[in-house]
Amino acid sequence: MAQGMAGDWSSSSSTAAVPSSSGMARRLARHHQAVLGFLLGFFVSVVLYTTVSGLCLATNSIAVHDIENGQKDVLTKTMGKERIEDKKLVDGTDMNKKTVHSTDQLGQTANDARGNLEEELIRQELDQDGDGNNRSNVTLGTPLKPICDLSDPRYDICEISGDARAIGANCTVLYVPPADERGPDGPEWTIRDQSRKDLGYIDKVNVKTLSAAQSLVAPGCTSRHAVPAVVFAMNGLTSNPWHDFSDVLIPLFITTRAYDGEVQFLVTDFRPWFVDKYRLILTNLSRYDIIDFNKDTGVRCYPHIVVGLRSHSDLGIDPTRTPHNYTMLDFRMYIRDVFSLPPEGQGIPFKEANKKKKNGGTSTEEQKPRLMLINRAGIRKFVNLPEISAAVQAAGFEVLVVEPLRDMRLDEFSREVDSCDVLMGAHGAALTSFFFLRTNAVMLQVVPWGLEREAMSYFGVHAKDMMLQDMEYSITVEESTLYEKYGKDHLAVRDPEALRKQGWQLLRKYLWDEQDIRLNVTRFSPTLHQLLRTLGE
Ligand SMILES: *[C@@H]1O[C@H](CO)[C@@H](O)[C@H](O)[C@H]1NC(C)=O
Ligand SMILES: *[C@@H]1O[C@H](CO)[C@@H](O)[C@H](O)[C@H]1NC(C)=O
Ligand SMILES: *[C@@H]1O[C@H](CO)[C@@H](O)[C@H](O)[C@H]1NC(C)=O
Ligand SMILES: *[C@@H]1O[C@H](CO)[C@@H](O)[C@H](O)[C@H]1NC(C)=O
Ligand SMILES: *[C@@H]1O[C@H](CO)[C@@H](O)[C@H](O)[C@H]1NC(C)=O
Ligand SMILES: *[C@@H]1O[C@H](CO)[C@@H](O)[C@H](O)[C@H]1NC(C)=O
Repeated sequence: MAQGMAGDWSSSSSTAAVPSSSGMARRLARHHQAVLGFLLGFFVSVVLYTTVSGLCLATNSIAVHDIENGQKDVLTKTMGKERIEDKKLVDGTDMNKKTVHSTDQLGQTANDARGNLEEELIRQELDQDGDGNNRSNVTLGTPLKPICDLSDPRYDICEISGDARAIGANCTVLYVPPADERGPDGPEWTIRDQSRKDLGYIDKVNVKTLSAAQSLVAPGCTSRHAVPAVVFAMNGLTSNPWHDFSDVLIPLFITTRAYDGEVQFLVTDFRPWFVDKYRLILTNLSRYDIIDFNKDTGVRCYPHIVVGLRSHSDLGIDPTRTPHNYTMLDFRMYIRDVFSLPPEGQGIPFKEANKKKKNGGTSTEEQKPRLMLINRAGIRKFVNLPEISAAVQAAGFEVLVVEPLRDMRLDEFSREVDSCDVLMGAHGAALTSFFFLRTNAVMLQVVPWGLEREAMSYFGVHAKDMMLQDMEYSITVEESTLYEKYGKDHLAVRDPEALRKQGWQLLRKYLWDEQDIRLNVTRFSPTLHQLLRTLGE
């Protein structure tokens, strides 16, 4: 179960890959366990009732931003201003929230990332050791009909049909059963409302079926809505484009696309930058105002409420589990539609241009295929970028080197990607912009030393699923700066698979965070020729 871009992108990590705990984590976990056992054993109901108002704004939440630190992802270009606003919002509204923001300065943030990571590992440890799989499964009484499903390893989800009431003030969704179905007590759940149910700092939403007695004094509706609502969190590992899509946008698509816009979003941990950046997608999935649920006052009544987001795999969709058999290809087409990119049926850009030229008969010069070369500024960067760019040009391409600038808008950027025949970059979040490519365009992923597996599962398979042509260039160890940094005898250099077995933390440190790439353009040259042949087919 690979959860998340283990390594740079996520502090999320997979729970499975969490390495053996540090002493401190264990101590904390034991402490936590003791406390939790006490609370669970004796005061479950008391705890539930007294902490419920803090559910959404739990103390010590950590909003992790840009874990990858120093990487200036292309897709994060538009986020400069918004992120500052975001910080203000977070800091201004909840002093207990600790927001870890990265800067763009190379190196400066590495320590933050590591500290951050450790914190998160401890947090996960606490979650695991403390209350195990039970933590979001505390029920009071006997369920009338189960409205929450906690069985999926990735997400928890609750669905209420009938009289559903959403109360932002205490982050609660109530189900008021019809009179003849009310029982002596009502079951209650608390779930994390995003696709990463194990991510400790996603706050919880309380979901409750009211008992007969409680139904009589249920809070009255202050607004009534005809369409369903979906409650989900915008925090977590968002701000890294891969996570934006894998953790929120694709799950949101899976969960809500079938409503065809007739659904309202109630967002916990609202992120202004996220709404701004992905406005085109969000306003297409829902034609109603997006509600900042934590700030919402009143009682919103809906005929149907979903709490949480469904998710099938890392950045993936399982068509057999979606309402209309949606595939990743459908998702790419959908994204292209939403960004008003040319409709399907057009060839890749250079072929299309040459066809037009031939028909027009004016110009004699052939349009060269255009290659977007992603210049990562932080970790896993190309240290010899000019040399690579020159080699690509010499092979017959027009090269568009994209440096991540904060103020670049996604709608403009999507058109730039669409205008390219090839998207080339080192394994990393910026490749997530492959959604904007045309059918049969090529994603050429440069695979850092030891990361073949991740390269395929986080991008390669999805590119193929989306009818893009997937190419990988796996570097040799001599092309990795690990070689010059640590020498040929170091485990990371000698045997990355053995390193992998020693735990995810080391894997991350060496293979994700510490290696840059010095592409051997001589060795790379056959790949460029292969690329030309592939494009020519
Ligand atoms: C769930 O928690 C209870 C204590 O509330 C514990 O006795 C039980 O073993 C736990 N079950 C699992 C599957 O962890
Ligand atoms: C919830 O907890 C009960 C008992 O603690 C257990 O029997 C049930 O399987 C749990 N449900 C899920 C979905 O984990
Ligand atoms: C949340 O607030 C509403 C309205 O004040 C109240 O009726 C409800 O019981 C609260 N939810 C919980 C779980 O305490
Ligand atoms: C969403 O986009 C699709 C095309 O991709 C369009 O048919 C639909 O009307 C849009 N819905 C909304 C609510 O804008
Ligand atoms: C989805 O696919 C299954 C079989 O693959 C088929 O039976 C079903 O009708 C399809 N559903 C839709 C909505 O296309
Ligand atoms: C680059 O690759 C070529 C062809 O594989 C090889 O002969 C050469 O030694 C490599 N250069 C370096 C510096 O490793």
